[in-house]
Amino acid sequence: MNICVIGGAGYIGSHAVKLLVEKGHAVTCIDNLSNGHRAAVHPKAAFYVADLANTAAIIAIFQKQKIEAVMHFAASAYVGESVTDPRKYYRNNVSNTVSMLDAMSAAGVKKLVFSSTCATYGMPPKMPITEDLPQNPINPYGDSKLMVEHILKDVAKAEGLAFAAPRYFNVAGCAPDGAIGEDHRPETHIIPALLNVALGKRSHMDLYGTDYPTKDGTCVRDYVHVWDLVEAHLVLLENLKPGQGLFYNLGVGRGYSNREIIDAVRRVTGKKITIIEAPRRAGDPPELFAAPDKIKRELGWSARFTNLDEIVQTAWNWFSKNPNGYDK
Ligand SMILES: NC(=O)c1ccc[n+]([C@@H]2O[C@H](COP(=O)([O-])OP(=O)(O)OC[C@H]3O[C@@H](n4cnc5c(N)ncnc54)[C@H](O)[C@@H]3O)[C@@H](O)[C@H]2O)c1
Repeated sequence: MNICVIGGAGYIGSHAVKLLVEKGHAVTCIDNLSNGHRAAVHPKAAFYVADLANTAAIIAIFQKQKIEAVMHFAASAYVGESVTDPRKYYRNNVSNTVSMLDAMSAAGVKKLVFSSTCATYGMPPKMPITEDLPQNPINPYGDSKLMVEHILKDVAKAEGLAFAAPRYFNVAGCAPDGAIGEDHRPETHIIPALLNVALGKRSHMDLYGTDYPTKDGTCVRDYVHVWDLVEAHLVLLENLKPGQGLFYNLGVGRGYSNREIIDAVRRVTGKKITIIEAPRRAGDPPELFAAPDKIKRELGWSARFTNLDEIVQTAWNWFSKNPNGYDK
């Protein structure tokens, strides 16, 4: 299939490009390189530097490459920044997604997988999180993603778009063959941040909140391996139906506390990791983990990387060989 990966130079998008190329698809990658890295994009993918806001450019790429389906990973994705600069989030995540839908419509592209997030659930009333729980985001980032879920439902109904909006939990790890990795700047995700401490690039990591009502007082999250996650995207693509939306949690179904993550990074790297305990951050739910049963039952997908050390090991393999990330 001719598949366009938007945001394909970013962390998750570059893994999707790699998987799709390896599965024999013709892959086109679009990224404005605001956060992504050219070197992360598989050399067999056609690569275009373009911004989603430039509808004419996106239409031209879709037409030239005869695109049949889109995987849309491009977004602004820092929760804290979304609170201080909400217009950036609504512009990039909502308006630019509508521009992308305009381009898809103009070029006759009818299939889409869109990156949604567990942040759309906000502070869920119970654990694990099932897809039917109320979605009440607590920050503009989560709101922007939920708005797109609503927009996609309406466009599917009106125009027959076939789409999936998988809601990711915490995506972690790097390509199992070590070829590509994770290089966010700034890095706010706990595993890469700890690996940067292990590499001596950061002096320590702040541990926000040690008095939560959880097993050891620190926040608990569900870590899904990036390779499992992009494989789920292919499964979703194969199951799209015109006029319908698929909504699934993508998680492992098990929560690890921040202290358990720190211990795993110490075990895997064998390095000293300095932690500085700090007060809770506003808006961090104590515990978030998925009920991953719906996608398993209906589409047969479940995460294969369920061992935390193994997930951290795939990340460490890349980080230890690429201490400067994608900078040479
Ligand atoms: N990383 C996670 O744990 C996680 C969890 C839940 C949801 N998500 C979602 O998954 C998606 C990918 O996340 P990621 O961690 O790979 O982020 P990332 O920042 O590494 O990748 C996003 C890519 O999109 C590009 N981009 C942004 N705006 C663009 C625009 N207007 N036009 C063209 N390109 C643009 C960036 O340059 C970047 O390469 C995002 O939508 C994010 O909200 C990520």
